[in-house]
Order: sequence, then structure tokens, then C-alpha cells
Amino acid sequence: METLVAWCQWLEHTRIATQIRESLWVFPAIETTHLLAMIVFVGSIGSLDLRLLGFAWKGERVSQLSARLLPWAIAGFFAMALTGLLLFISNAAKLYLNNTMFQLKLGLIVLAGINALAFHFTIYQRVTAWDLSPVTPLHARLAGAASLLLWIGVVIGGRWTGFV
Ligand code: HEM
Repeated sequence: METLVAWCQWLEHTRIATQIRESLWVFPAIETTHLLAMIVFVGSIGSLDLRLLGFAWKGERVSQLSARLLPWAIAGFFAMALTGLLLFISNAAKLYLNNTMFQLKLGLIVLAGINALAFHFTIYQRVTAWDLSPVTPLHARLAGAASLLLWIGVVIGGRWTGFV
């Protein structure tokens, strides 16, 4: 833990972290980009989740919707991770490392990633069997519900980080 604290202290004293922290507009500009990327990411992944749950796009093939939306979700995620990292280094040790909401948010991101991989490598491998079904198999619905709840948790954790 001490090494992690020391590393975060070093991070927040780098030139780029100091510039982000001390400028009046750089932090808000990066945070705005973080939020714009969130719209792309949560919009696309949330749409897929709603299809899995049978709440939207019931006439669409799951595989076609995935092919169309996943590139946006992946691009949105990387933009979030990059801008999030820049926000993080600006006050890595002082504000974020020990922030419960920030820790919760990162934990939920890991869980959501595991859920997405588990879905992809299990039930999604047999998607041809249920591609057009308005009601998807139970495991697909469970994965969709877990994904939706976990990402909502990440958004709440992100918003709350500045208030604890
Ligand atoms: C990929 C999913 C992510 C989502 C949905 C998400 C969501 C959010 C939200 C809603 C905010 C609040 C913005 C505001 O209050 O204006 C935020 C802020 C922030 N995020 Fe993320 N974020 C994600 C990923 C990340 C990652 C990967 C990191 C770091 C490695 C990160 C670091 C931060 C930091 C440091 C803040 C500023 C907190 C503050 O001081 O208010 N985020 N995020």
C-alpha cells in the first residue's frame, strides 16, 4: 500500500498532473470529455443490454445490433479510461486513491468487465440459436441486467466521488 501511495504522490507531482490541477479550464474540459464519452459508452452498451432484456429493438438480430454498437462501446470505453486517467493523476494520492466512491467505481468497472467477458465466451457463442428471439435465454437476460445495474453503479460512483 505504501508503494502505491508513493507512486500516486509521484504521479500527482508530474508536470502534466500539475498543469491539469492548476489550470482553471483543463480539468473541467477533460471532465466534460469524460462525460461525452460516457454518453457514447453507456448509450451503446445500455442499448444492447435493453435488447438482451427484451425491452427494446425486439425485432433486431442480437448479433447485428452487437456488430453495430460494440465498436462505439469500445471506443467510448477507451476515451473514458484515458480521460479518467488524466483526471485521476491530477490528484491521485490527495483525492482519489483512498476515496471510497472512487474505489467502488473501479471495482464495479472490473465486475462489469468480467460480466461482459463471461457473456461473450458462454451464451453469446450460441447466439445463432436465439438471435431473433424477442425473449432471450435466461443467462443472456441475467447478463444484460447485471451489465445495466453495474454501469449505473459506475455512473453513480463517478458522480459521487467529488462529494466524499
Ligand atoms: C468506463 C466507465 C466510467 C464511467 C461511466 C465514469 C463516470 C464518471 C462520472 C459520471 C463522473 C462525474 C463527472 C462529473 O461529476 O462531472 C466521473 C468522474 C471521474 N472519473 Fe470516471 N467514469 C468511468 C471510468 C473512469 C476511469 C477508468 C477512471 C480512472 C482511471 C475514472 C476517473 C474519474 C475521475 C478521477 C473523476 C473525477 C471525480 C471528481 O473529482 O469529481 N473514470 N466519471
